[in-house]
Amino acid sequence: MCGIVGYIGNKKTQDVLLNGLKDLEYRGYDSAGIALLEQDNIEVCKAVGKVDNLRNELKKINNKNYKIGIGHTRWATHGKPTYENAHPHLGEYSYVVHNGIIENYKQIKEELLKDGHIFISQTDTEVIVHLFENYNNKLNNIKEAFKKTIKKLKGAYSILLITKEHKNKIFFFKSGSPLIVAKGKEKGEVLFSSTDSPLIGLSNDVVYLEDEVGGIASSKGIEFFNDNYKWSTLPTSKESAQKDGFDFFMEKEIYEQSDVSNDCMIGRLQDDEILFDEIDSNILEDINEIKLCACGTSYHAALASSYLFERLSKIRTSVEIASEFRYKKPLLSKQTLFIVVSQSGETADSLEALKMAKKEGLKTLVICNANNSSMTRLANISILARAGIEKGVASTKAFSTQTIVLWMISLYFAKIKNNISKEKLAEEIQTLRQVPKALIVNNTIHEKIKRLSKRYLHGHGFFFIGRDIFFPLALEGALKLKEISYLHAEGYPAGEMKHGPIALVDSELFTIALMPQNLLYDKIKSNVEELSARDSTICTISPLNFDLSDDFIKTQKAKHYMLEFFEMLVVLQLLSLEIAIRLKNDVDMPRNLAKSVTVE
Ligand code: AGP
Repeated sequence: MCGIVGYIGNKKTQDVLLNGLKDLEYRGYDSAGIALLEQDNIEVCKAVGKVDNLRNELKKINNKNYKIGIGHTRWATHGKPTYENAHPHLGEYSYVVHNGIIENYKQIKEELLKDGHIFISQTDTEVIVHLFENYNNKLNNIKEAFKKTIKKLKGAYSILLITKEHKNKIFFFKSGSPLIVAKGKEKGEVLFSSTDSPLIGLSNDVVYLEDEVGGIASSKGIEFFNDNYKWSTLPTSKESAQKDGFDFFMEKEIYEQSDVSNDCMIGRLQDDEILFDEIDSNILEDINEIKLCACGTSYHAALASSYLFERLSKIRTSVEIASEFRYKKPLLSKQTLFIVVSQSGETADSLEALKMAKKEGLKTLVICNANNSSMTRLANISILARAGIEKGVASTKAFSTQTIVLWMISLYFAKIKNNISKEKLAEEIQTLRQVPKALIVNNTIHEKIKRLSKRYLHGHGFFFIGRDIFFPLALEGALKLKEISYLHAEGYPAGEMKHGPIALVDSELFTIALMPQNLLYDKIKSNVEELSARDSTICTISPLNFDLSDDFIKTQKAKHYMLEFFEMLVVLQLLSLEIAIRLKNDVDMPRNLAKSVTVE
């Protein structure tokens, strides 16, 4: 996720901004830059890669003592990680940094191009500074120009803007992406940051800006455009700040899923259609099959999406585990679209599978959370999951955003092939829009899971069972538990239990049963009854009461099984988290595991 910093004061502005950007590194990025303002001189310095590259570049510009500046670390969502795409972005006399996504940037850019504005980047951000100057050139009123700019923008964003027209001011606005404004400890000092970590030690009084709040800051004070703000105090620990107050990155990332699921849909859901700038509408010409390939959690997202590709796009779909695929001498056809799913974009087995498909001349598409990774550089088409950096080794928000993106692609393909009615497409899009709500952690359920987790710290193992698309979800739940609790768990198709696994059943064998109301409920119910009859200890996750449960986690009734899918995902993630916490395991860095498996 991008990071923003800003500073007004008498310290060496370059150093304050650089230190702030260093503190934001944990959010993940692929380029960085700062803009500095002093009288008539507006300086910018940018670098691809790490903040230290930026520090080296800064040594090349004059080391004046600037009094005002803005800085940014960029996690690319539009356009590759290049110098031109790095922030800050310049108009004629102003610089802007931005976190988030401007949904209507294409339309704005077209209008500005007609007005003679020249763009050098592929980013959505650059339209902000040109729009601002376009208004100011006409209005000759900086504040009104800024307000009109904000009014025109659609999407989720936070913005800092400096301009030679008002040398000692920083214009700021927050709408959907976090932004904090802080009073420095020295008189007249003002600081900005995306999170509180960079501010710790430099300020005590901060405003965590609410949506649709902005204003103008200078050494004389901070003017807010409305009174929907309140001053509060900062946490004292940087580490706790980077975890937003959670004990573990994994827990923070489970709670982030609702927000990042919004990000991954912005600009891709438009009224009643799905948009993917990255995918040409002729992508399916002479394609009659889809083959997905991945490892681990990404494999589970791929497997889940295979149900959607067949059900919605009506394209024959198969799924491969990458480490198996690469040695099985697969029969490949150029009429197959090869889709690799990967959070890191560096997993050795998945990367090798991608190379094999490319070598055979297949069209390749990668769903990835890391722009500029080996896979995004290699695939014909790259679609970013936009989950933001995922620090927890046990993947959570990457899985939910991958599944959402794949679901949107299945609908995009269904539309291309005319395999979906207008009404069905509208219903699916309407359901997609409700996913962020389904991913909100229900605190009552979280508290219940904390309590009931004490009962699952022993036994001779777990079966996670589900049917249809809930089978890949069961696999994911089992993997989460294995990874961080070190307890044995298997995901199984519920209908398979009687073909052998049921021999393991007794009261010490725990069954976690996914029982959605909207998909094969009666079938899963009878499977669970078989297990209960053999005295398995059963925890059911369902919107419907089930009296044979030993433990029961009641989820919300929903109109569509995919909303149940995402709500149950959160329950499974929290269950593994709370069991691992009770076992005092290292939740974020479990034994024997790496975040990215770049070796075979
Ligand atoms: C997920 O919790 C695991 N850490 C692991 O299975 C991971 O999903 C797998 O290694 C694939 O990684 P990738 O998504 O970066 O390719």
